[in-house]
Amino acid sequence: MSNLETQLAALRQEAQQAIANSSTLEDLEQLRIKYLGKKGSLSQVLGGMGKLSAEERPRIGALANEVKDALQTDLDQKRAALQAAQIEAQLEAEALDVTMPGVYRLQGHTHPLTSTIDRMIDIFVGLGYTVATGPEMETDYYNFEALNFLPDHPARDMQDTLYLPDGNILRTHTSSVQIRYMEENDPPVRIVMPGRCYRRDTVDATHSAVFHQLEILAVDEGLTFTDLRGTIKVFLEAMFGEIPIRFRPSFFPFTEPSAEVDVQWRGRWLEVMGCGMVDPNVLKAVGYDPEVYTGFAAGLGVERIAMVLHQIDDIRRLYASDLRFLKQF
Ligand code: DAH
Repeated sequence: MSNLETQLAALRQEAQQAIANSSTLEDLEQLRIKYLGKKGSLSQVLGGMGKLSAEERPRIGALANEVKDALQTDLDQKRAALQAAQIEAQLEAEALDVTMPGVYRLQGHTHPLTSTIDRMIDIFVGLGYTVATGPEMETDYYNFEALNFLPDHPARDMQDTLYLPDGNILRTHTSSVQIRYMEENDPPVRIVMPGRCYRRDTVDATHSAVFHQLEILAVDEGLTFTDLRGTIKVFLEAMFGEIPIRFRPSFFPFTEPSAEVDVQWRGRWLEVMGCGMVDPNVLKAVGYDPEVYTGFAAGLGVERIAMVLHQIDDIRRLYASDLRFLKQF
């Protein structure tokens, strides 16, 4: 065996050993440069080929190629193995344990007043009504005058009103939206008007200075009190199921005749709305002909409805932001 053959065999053995032992892709690359690179060991050994005889040269050349191919194969295999191991390790490091208990986050939900309003709106929308809204800061005209409250009418005293420094008021009811809507739209009208209202009420279990109403208004040819009563009955049954209700005669400047509707709540009657046939003077105020059109309207107390719905004993709970209370809904 020639000297070069011995060297090639030794080189092969050493390189294969080193490749087998390498544990990182960087190490492997260093080995490739060291053994197969331009100035690597194999090149150096082959540098001595010039001194070989003509018959020796092809044999050593073939042997050198064989060593080169063998090392290249080993390098390729080792690289693939190391890459696979690296991916494996990475996957393991990033693995999710889906059985681990999650981080508990308090999840919010709709306030019972909001969900009550949504439910009420849904029922009226199902009856063909569309939603209309108006401002909470109102003028005397929309809140009172156009609704047939005369300047010194005793009915004005019914509304203990919060006046603003500029003479405007915080609306005492959503009935003001009736006027704003009818001024802008011709009959027929079917609207539902949710909103916040304000009164100088003394706060107690069933009264709040800030509260919500949901007003409905229908104006058309030939509407009668029967339509009003049927609509209210359908609404209350959709809201509460079968529940004792009663209509009580009442007075409002903007309706004639007028009624209040009570439902049974904790063993007593609780008023949940005022209603009636739209007063001809209101229709005239917005330019509707009362000889052609009649209408009915109702103003429902949202808090009262929510209290009946959820058997809530005190209106103040709805504003207390007490999570122990709110979490129940
Ligand atoms: N606006 C009245 C109130 O706040 C409630 C009301 C009564 C509204 C009769 C109406 C109605 O639309 O027809 O007490």
